[in-house]
Amino acid sequence: MRIAVAGATGNIGARTVAALERDGHEVVRISRSLGVDLVTGAGLDDALAGVDAVVDAISAPPTDREQTATYFGTTTSNLLAAEQRAGVRHHVLLSIVGIHGIEGNAHYSGKREQERLVTEGPVPWTIVPATQFHDFAAMVAGWTERDGVATIAPLLVQPIAPADIAEILAEIATGEPQGRYVDVAGPETQDLVDMARRTNEVRGRVVKLVPTWSGIFEVSMAGNVLLPGENARIAPTTFDDWLAAGAV
Ligand SMILES: NC(=O)c1ccc[n+]([C@@H]2O[C@H](COP(=O)([O-])OP(=O)(O)OC[C@H]3O[C@@H](n4cnc5c(N)ncnc54)[C@H](OP(=O)(O)O)[C@@H]3O)[C@@H](O)[C@H]2O)c1
Repeated sequence: MRIAVAGATGNIGARTVAALERDGHEVVRISRSLGVDLVTGAGLDDALAGVDAVVDAISAPPTDREQTATYFGTTTSNLLAAEQRAGVRHHVLLSIVGIHGIEGNAHYSGKREQERLVTEGPVPWTIVPATQFHDFAAMVAGWTERDGVATIAPLLVQPIAPADIAEILAEIATGEPQGRYVDVAGPETQDLVDMARRTNEVRGRVVKLVPTWSGIFEVSMAGNVLLPGENARIAPTTFDDWLAAGAV
């Protein structure tokens, strides 16, 4: 098949490209640094010529709620319209578990806008809600790090390995549209503060972590709200496996 991956240079997009190419598919890589911009639509029609399916694994710059919703809304609308013109038969969206139960987070409101446009859009679709990735904890702690000190919310998560979610996206993109897919998660629950501490240890970084609910992850995200629902698909790689492999 000929499959386009939007966000092809990103954490999950690049791994999805690799999985698809390993399985013999022809992959079109979409990202601004590769000359295709989903905000302006530049290069998009050419990129989608002859494409059967599209995986959307782009992300949005961290900003406020309104701008995030506008970014994901514009990129998704442009992508879906170009897919319709090109006769693409399957749109696969990488989303996040639990976003419909949490009001406050700006990124989540953008993801809800993506989901709304995809479900109401012209192209048959599959939405894949994933839990946080194994590298999420150290990444979000890194956003606040100053002089060796970082704040981080003590979220309860059930993280998934980046390589595992990429395999699942590649598998789904090569099949029929399925509508809303079951939640996809890793095998074990974890405390985000502990994950960040252990990841930094493996990476040889000394960072003092201060648990708090005062940052972008509010107390409405405490408890079970980020955990996968019943009948979730559980990917195999544990957080410990990922650490043992070097936390990359
Ligand atoms: N982090 C988590 O734990 C987690 C969990 C579940 C789901 N997710 C979702 O997973 C998705 C992917 O996350 P990620 O961490 O893999 O993202 P990432 O590493 O930040 O990569 C984002 C990709 O999107 C591309 N991109 C951004 N804006 C674009 C535009 N206007 N036009 C074309 N390409 C654009 C970037 O390339 P250029 O900069 O070259 O354009 C890059 O390839 C996100 O939507 C996120 O919500 C994340």
